[in-house]
Amino acid sequence: MTQHFLCMADLSPAKAADLLSLAHQIKRDPNAYRQVLAGQTLGMIFQKRSTRTRVSFEVGMYQLGGHALFLSSQDIQIGRGETIADTAQVLSRYVDGIMARVFGHDVLEQLAAHGSIPVINGLSDLLHPCQTLADALTLAEKWSPAGSFDPGVLKGRKLVYVGDGNNMAHSLLYTGAVFGMDVTIVAPRGYWPDLGVMDSARKVAAETGATLEVTADTIGGVRGADCIYTDVWASMGQEEEAAKRLADFAGFQVDAQMMARANDDAVFMHCLPAHRGEEVSAEVCDGPQSIIFDEAENRLHAQKAVLVDLMKRD
Ligand code: CP
Ligand code: NVA
Repeated sequence: MTQHFLCMADLSPAKAADLLSLAHQIKRDPNAYRQVLAGQTLGMIFQKRSTRTRVSFEVGMYQLGGHALFLSSQDIQIGRGETIADTAQVLSRYVDGIMARVFGHDVLEQLAAHGSIPVINGLSDLLHPCQTLADALTLAEKWSPAGSFDPGVLKGRKLVYVGDGNNMAHSLLYTGAVFGMDVTIVAPRGYWPDLGVMDSARKVAAETGATLEVTADTIGGVRGADCIYTDVWASMGQEEEAAKRLADFAGFQVDAQMMARANDDAVFMHCLPAHRGEEVSAEVCDGPQSIIFDEAENRLHAQKAVLVDLMKRD
């Protein structure tokens, strides 16, 4: 059966740890992987804009000996109404894998159902697993003893996500569940994560001992955090709600006062792009606790691991 990467929960806890170790290995010794996907092509469908996802996948494929095609949905026939099912079948005859950034998560499921090649979620309205896999790599590197790498260090650590209960919040819940972390979502009422996602992430958490909480308490929720994470208040596709959201999220900015409530050695993370002065103060975003650019770099290494895992031929 063709394997896909649509959600962190597609990975068993053991598989997720192996993938992080592979990403770390590829990062340390990229030359050993130069030809692993020689002659293979990744089709990259984008219904939304991107800097990190587009560039890191394209560069990643090149560094693995393969090639990537940028397919804006405006420029391919999907934009004129060709079905997702037909697109999946046609692309399966040309390319070896599909990465897609879409609005509806169902588009990814249709690509996976109708195509015969691996499909990777490059962000949907529901989930952003490539980002949180890179985030887990970043935290595991940060918390492993010097000179070593152990994904097991994530277990029992507390990650607090402050902001909109969106695709990032959902993927962080699944990621925390898979790695046995304690994840608290701090969000205003009305912006809490999807209940179905909470339920299914809690099922994974039951296997690993993770705890998953949601609260509107910006004081108690942040206490004891090893990592504070945030994302924009209005995601792509929600531009018209931006003004209302700015008002609704008042008091939820990650600023120095909020960071002071976390553990002393807590790190700050953001998937980027960031809106300084909205979800995070410039002082925190660009301050000493911020690891946002390590996080951005790790998109490349983590995704190369996903590509190798899904596309490498024996
Ligand atoms: N974090 C992230 O996915 O960035 P892009 O939207 O630039 O791809
Ligand atoms: N929640 C954001 C993430 C961007 C990487 C969005 O969907 O626009």
